[in-house]
Amino acid sequence: ATGPIIDPFGRTISYLRVSVTDRCDFRCTYCMAENMTFLPKQDLLTLEELDRLCAAFVARGVRRLRLTGGEPLVRKNIMNLVRSLSRHLDSGALDELTLTTNGSQLARYAKELAECGVRRINVSLDTLDPEKFRAITRWGDLAKVMAGIDAALDAGIAVKLNAVALKGQNEDELVPMLRFAHGRGMDLTLIETMPMGETGEDRTDRYLPLSTVRARLEREFTLTDLAYRTGGPARYVRVGETGGRLGFITPLTHNFCESCNRVRLTCTGTLYLCLGQNDAADLRDVLRAPGSDAATLSAAIDAAVALKPKGHDFVIGRGASKPKIARHMNVTGG
Ligand code: GTP
Ligand code: 5AD
Ligand code: SF4
Repeated sequence: ATGPIIDPFGRTISYLRVSVTDRCDFRCTYCMAENMTFLPKQDLLTLEELDRLCAAFVARGVRRLRLTGGEPLVRKNIMNLVRSLSRHLDSGALDELTLTTNGSQLARYAKELAECGVRRINVSLDTLDPEKFRAITRWGDLAKVMAGIDAALDAGIAVKLNAVALKGQNEDELVPMLRFAHGRGMDLTLIETMPMGETGEDRTDRYLPLSTVRARLEREFTLTDLAYRTGGPARYVRVGETGGRLGFITPLTHNFCESCNRVRLTCTGTLYLCLGQNDAADLRDVLRAPGSDAATLSAAIDAAVALKPKGHDFVIGRGASKPKIARHMNVTGG
């Protein structure tokens, strides 16, 4: 087929997230176990293969591409892929080429990313305290991430900070983080922890409903709902006192699947149709089949998207302390 990719529920798929590696230089406690087995290198698609797959989606109307991981910037020669994908920005086929990163390598890559047309990036940052940062990431260096954020801002890239709201871990820091982000012209998005992958920690102990956080913030700040959307699941408010934007990603307290516009490609060529379900299709074999071309890939995309479920059914608490989905977040990049 040609034309837009439409799922069984009538949702148009215009956004592709690509996990370019499952590896990461951090081990955030809510995301990974301390000892993770990563995919063997020989199973990875090459950057050229990822590029071909992305092109197939762009040809079918995908307007936004987000590289994720693991940590996308630890993939060897990743800038070759970014540079190549930027051709879709130049041609006008793509509205946005962006990344979700932990920021550890940003100081090195920010300038080049800006040159490739990356206008906006999301940096995961759950605390401003170096000790706590080390504890949450298991060994990460906050100073390096801060330098990365500065480099991105200096390069003219808009930065949005992502913080997973964690009970007893960073709940006391959400206001300082808000002031930090808004003080530097950055948006901040808070995220409810999702029950994906065994981490050695009980998510029930960490889960902080954002409805509670919002109510707490409203004692101190004036929050005004905004119509502003990025094409992602966050709902935004304007914070009167800081003038900045604050987003809430609420898979648990307010499901947003009805307006889902995305699918996820892994670094081995599996297409996951939903973050919170296991429905998936393999595109690697199609890509590598002799004689495969744009038409075969396009047909494979339609066949895959036909499997897209209505939404996730995450629950935390009420006896649901086991992860709903065994797959770790780093496989699909959130
Ligand atoms: P923007 O383009 O800035 O809106 O990005 P985004 O929020 O879509 O993506 P980002 O990579 O920054 O992800 C932030 C959080 O949102 C992560 O915890 C993701 O797992 C979560 N998230 C992103 N897309 C989805 C989705 O489709 N479903 C669910 N349940 N969570 C998602
Ligand atoms: N629940 C919610 N968000 C998560 N992330 C990683 N694991 C989880 C989880 N279990 C976030 C990271 C990053 C984004 C891609 O996903 O903090 O910002
Ligand atoms: Fe889309 Fe699945 Fe996320 Fe729901 S959980 S918004 S269906 S990817």
